[in-house]
Amino acid sequence: MDITELILDDHHEQRRLFAILEQIDRAETGVLSAIWDRLAAFLELHAQAEEEIFYPALLQAGIAARRAAGVEDETLDAIHDHNEIRDAIAEVARHQVGTDDWYAAVAAANLANSDHMAEEEREGLTDFRRLTGLPRRHQLAVAFAAYEARNYAGVQPVDKDPVGYVRAEEKKLRTAASGSLSVGTLKRH
Ligand SMILES: [Fe+2]
Ligand SMILES: [Fe+2]
Repeated sequence: MDITELILDDHHEQRRLFAILEQIDRAETGVLSAIWDRLAAFLELHAQAEEEIFYPALLQAGIAARRAAGVEDETLDAIHDHNEIRDAIAEVARHQVGTDDWYAAVAAANLANSDHMAEEEREGLTDFRRLTGLPRRHQLAVAFAAYEARNYAGVQPVDKDPVGYVRAEEKKLRTAASGSLSVGTLKRH
């Protein structure tokens, strides 16, 4: 397995569920609700799994390769985007299912998620393949699959401060390295 493949598979599933929503008659509000609820829960779980497993590993690999600034910027962007996606999902819940406003809110969530996936695929996933070998990507794929399986019923959506997130993850890396390695310090933010 490879964590970058699992993330791509999840992205495909998200695109598939948005496409399914577009093909359901707007009068079928029960079906729209069921599929949206599944998609919303999956979007939250996927972002959380990336924040727990993928982005800490990207930071670690980039710092080890003396590319701290690049992976820090990619991680800051990702956490910012994840917050936007969470907020867009929350907005959908404020509208009655099947109304024009509900469709507009779903479209906004689709746009925020599409933009984020494209950037994540082009930057974070690409860099991670360049920075790490297959054994590490397999190990992380197991952790990612386990996280999603354990939390299949959903996670609590919590917005995170991007700078605070990167600082906290780098602190954990420093602690794990017992101060023997130079670790990123997010100087430019
Ligand atoms: Fe993401
Ligand atoms: Fe993703």
